[in-house]
Amino acid sequence: MAKSNVIDKQKKTISRDVGLEIAATCGKYFLKLEHLHYGYWTNDLEINISNLHIAQENYTDFLVSHIPDGVKTILDVGCGLGRIAKKLIDMGYQVDCVSPSPFLSEQARSLLGDTSRVFECRYEQLEGENRYDLILFGESFQYIPLEKALEKTLKFLNNDGYLLICDFFKKHVKGDKILKGGHKLTKFYETISHYPFELVKDLDITDKTAPNLDILDDAMKNVVQPVLHSGLRLLNSRYPLTSKFLQWKYRKRINKIYEKYLSGAKTSENFKKFKSYRLFLYKKIDTGTNE
Ligand SMILES: C[S@@+](CC[C@H](N)C(=O)[O-])C[C@H]1O[C@@H](n2cnc3c(N)ncnc32)[C@H](O)[C@@H]1O
Repeated sequence: MAKSNVIDKQKKTISRDVGLEIAATCGKYFLKLEHLHYGYWTNDLEINISNLHIAQENYTDFLVSHIPDGVKTILDVGCGLGRIAKKLIDMGYQVDCVSPSPFLSEQARSLLGDTSRVFECRYEQLEGENRYDLILFGESFQYIPLEKALEKTLKFLNNDGYLLICDFFKKHVKGDKILKGGHKLTKFYETISHYPFELVKDLDITDKTAPNLDILDDAMKNVVQPVLHSGLRLLNSRYPLTSKFLQWKYRKRINKIYEKYLSGAKTSENFKKFKSYRLFLYKKIDTGTNE
């Protein structure tokens, strides 16, 4: 890969990591959120930011309810703040975690203490002899290169173990410039068909998760945008020349941020159009070749 591509990729990874860390800090402080995933909006739950923590608990319950009987050991890949792992441990499972972010790993460790090992690395880089009955990706699958994720999962699963993914994927629809993230769904089906996994469940939960987008859009319009405008007005009045210069110098970046976060395109309607949020449960087919 060319050096500039490698640098671009590194920059993208760092900005994604930092984005998750900021989301974790703000969510925890302002909304008492303990998870980093979307909420699961049941029909009886009013779509409102103050209900996001309930929707996130619903999501966790939904995820956990799909763990098959007989599973005892779990690897939680991309454990975030460690809340899902904590719930699983409280339910009697033995859980280890993977977390590349030093900040999030620290949070998870202080929650889990010595009940779990937190491997601080990217899943692609995880090594070791441990084997698990189930490997869980709670909205973390999209961050890991597809083939690497599947290869590592085969390696770390016991024979007859399970792969449980709950995450969103890109649909094969043109025009998605604003909503980032997710592997292509068709590519995922194609790729996993070459690995020894048998599909057990494939559930589409897009309708239940999409309301998150409207909540974020609402917060952007009603909080972030007015705060930015007030700040800008202050800057213009105090330092008119510096303010003009900075806005000119960074105009491209500013426009990009506006387009991405404040254009009103991050809505549940667009999410449903361009993404598919799914729960997949796969069983590893025993090929008798577990290392
Ligand atoms: C959206 S958060 C979900 C966190 C948690 N599973 C939850 O449901 O609250 C994505 C998680 O994936 C992790 N992650 C990102 N890239 C990763 C990688 N290459 N390997 C393992 N985890 C990764 C992030 O650090 C973060 O913990």
